Amino acid sequence: MSDVIAPDEIRTSVREHYAGIARKASSCCGPSACDCNANYPDQLAHAVPADIANFSLGCGDPITLASLQPGETVVDLGSGGGLDCFLAAQRVGARGRVIGVDMTPEMLAKARGNAARLGVTNVEFREGFIEHLPVADGEADVVISNCVINLSPDKPQVFRDVYRALRAGGRIAVSDIVTNGELPPAVRQSMAAWGACVAGALDVQDYIGGLQAAGFVAVKVETKEKLIAGLSRLPMHAPFSAIITARKP
Ligand SMILES: C[S@@+](CC[C@H](N)C(=O)[O-])C[C@H]1O[C@@H](n2cnc3c(N)ncnc32)[C@H](O)[C@@H]1O
Repeated sequence: MSDVIAPDEIRTSVREHYAGIARKASSCCGPSACDCNANYPDQLAHAVPADIANFSLGCGDPITLASLQPGETVVDLGSGGGLDCFLAAQRVGARGRVIGVDMTPEMLAKARGNAARLGVTNVEFREGFIEHLPVADGEADVVISNCVINLSPDKPQVFRDVYRALRAGGRIAVSDIVTNGELPPAVRQSMAAWGACVAGALDVQDYIGGLQAAGFVAVKVETKEKLIAGLSRLPMHAPFSAIITARKP
C-alpha cells in the first residue's frame, strides 16, 4: 500500500494522467516519465502500423518473455492503446483470445479504435481495475503486463487477483519498474512521480515476496540485461525496468 496517499486518490490521479496522454495521442508518457523504450525486436515492432507500435507506454517486451502459444487465452493488465494485445493476438492465433483490461475510458476508446482499424477478432478490451480483474476464475492461461503494476496502490491485491484469474499451471510474464531499496518519502508521495511509473515502484525483494505470498512459484526477476544477482552494482533506490515471470502451481 502507499504510505500516505489514499489508494483512490492515486487511482484517480493516475487515470487522469493516462486519460490526458490518450487524448493527446502522445507517443510516450512524457519527458519526466518512466523508461519508455519498449525494446521490441524489429519483427514485433513492425507487425502493426507504426502509429500503433509507437503508442507504447511500456518499459519492456512481455510478448517475447511470455512465449505465447497458439490457442492460449491472454490477459493484459493495463492495456493502454492495445499494442501488446495486438502482438499477443498474432501469437495466439484465431483459436486464442486476448483480453486487455484498463481503468481509463480514454485508453479503452483508443484501443478499441485501433482494434477496429486492424480488424482483429480475437481481442477485446474490458474496463476494470487490475486489483479486481473483470475476468472469470481460471480464465487465463497467461497474464502479461507492461509497466502497469507499479501504478497500483495495492499490489498484494493485484497479485492475488492475477492468481485467481489464472488456470492451474498458468503463468505471468511482466515488464515493470522496480527499485533496489526503498524510494525516499518525497518521491513516494509525489503524484507526478506516481503517474510517471516511479513513486509506486516496489522494492524488488518485496515484488518477489508479494508474488510468493499470493501463491506463485518459480518467481524470477531479471533486469533487461542481467540476472538480479548483479543488482549490487546498481545505485540504491534507482528505479529500473525488470522482467518478471512466475507460475501458478
Ligand atoms: C504506463 S501505461 C502502459 C500501457 C500499456 N501497457 C503499454 O505498454 O503501452 C499504464 C496503463 O495502465 C492503466 N492503469 C494504471 N493503473 C491501473 C489500475 N489500477 N487498473 C487498471 N488499469 C490501470 C492506465 O490507464 C494506462 O493505460
